[in-house]
Amino acid sequence: MKEYRIAVVGMGAVGREMVATLEKSSLPVSELLPLVRRNEGEPISFRGRTYKTVKVNKGVFKGVDIALFSAGEQASKELAPMAIEEGAVVIDNSNAFRMDPEIPLVVPEVNPLDAKKHKGLIANPNCSTIQMVVALKPLHDLYKIKRIVVSTYQAVSGTGYKAIDELNEQVSAYIAQEEIKNSVYPHQIAFNALPHIDVFLDNGYSKEEMKMHHETRKIIGDESIQVSATAVRIPVVRCHSEAVNIETEKPMPSVEEIKKILAEAPGVTVIDDVANDAYPLAADCQYKYGVFVGRIRKDYSIPNGLNMWVVADNLLKGAALNAVQIAELLAEKNWVSKDTGC
Ligand SMILES: NC(=O)c1ccc[n+]([C@@H]2O[C@H](COP(=O)([O-])OP(=O)(O)OC[C@H]3O[C@@H](n4cnc5c(N)ncnc54)[C@H](OP(=O)(O)O)[C@@H]3O)[C@@H](O)[C@H]2O)c1
Repeated sequence: MKEYRIAVVGMGAVGREMVATLEKSSLPVSELLPLVRRNEGEPISFRGRTYKTVKVNKGVFKGVDIALFSAGEQASKELAPMAIEEGAVVIDNSNAFRMDPEIPLVVPEVNPLDAKKHKGLIANPNCSTIQMVVALKPLHDLYKIKRIVVSTYQAVSGTGYKAIDELNEQVSAYIAQEEIKNSVYPHQIAFNALPHIDVFLDNGYSKEEMKMHHETRKIIGDESIQVSATAVRIPVVRCHSEAVNIETEKPMPSVEEIKKILAEAPGVTVIDDVANDAYPLAADCQYKYGVFVGRIRKDYSIPNGLNMWVVADNLLKGAALNAVQIAELLAEKNWVSKDTGC
């Protein structure tokens, strides 16, 4: 069986989860190459061996089969073309290439065949979009979703390791009744909710909100779906939660039937028993694989409407796990080499 030489670019919140997820994956890995821009030589344990972090430089991707990028948009724009040139297939977690029509944007449970079309680069979608499309694709296939209204409750780890430190420091300062300092977010995040993720655009929405609109259409492959999002950062370390409302073209069956459909859908776990206070919770879903759905109920205000609550670990299904699943898909289907077209 072929073994793959895998590079992980960026050893931050997502990069470290990439290594942990690869460790558990069945992907045959001959060698791991952890790439950084500083702290060269830091030991990284992987499958019983210790690898040292290496600074990214020209030629470093020679011999690499798959490069998992999680070093931010700027680094991806600078380094992904070099990695491809040197022979690696790049799976990129940043926003740099997601909306390029030539580049597949892949969630393996939703649009696995798009991965086959890659020309050296596959983009990993935004974390809030991934968990939403995994939960909604089975319903779209059956009842055709016309419109999605979503409010997110997003964890600070979505902003990277510096944001986790900022939340912890603010909580300690609050308890000690000391001054609360902020640098990552424009306001205090501890004991607060910020309706502000990424930059604001001319239409009044944040970039994160518009990513949910554009990326959902591209992944599901239906430009007619309308997505209206409000993205909110909350003081939770891991797991994004989402209140999702959908309106479908065709009538939907009973809530019990919808629960069955979702329970059988790939990557979805239904936790929905309100009589026993059971619904997905960020605190329970962290470090878990998959997407968790609950509070499923009809929207009584319109004919074909449904509400649900969707939770997933943003560092796993929202980032590292989805990227490793793409790598597994490429290996399983023998799609690691580029599609040269016909
Ligand atoms: N966090 C999430 O839930 C999530 C979900 C989906 C996608 N993403 C995307 O994934 C990327 C990484 O996010 P993150 O949360 O892991 O951020 P992070 O915790 O800030 O980590 C980014 C890491 O990349 C390193 N880096 C920056 N430029 C580099 C370069 N040129 N070469 C090598 N390493 C470099 C940084 O090094 P320093 O330590 O020197 O700064 C840092 O360690 C971002 O594009 C983000 O948008 C994140």
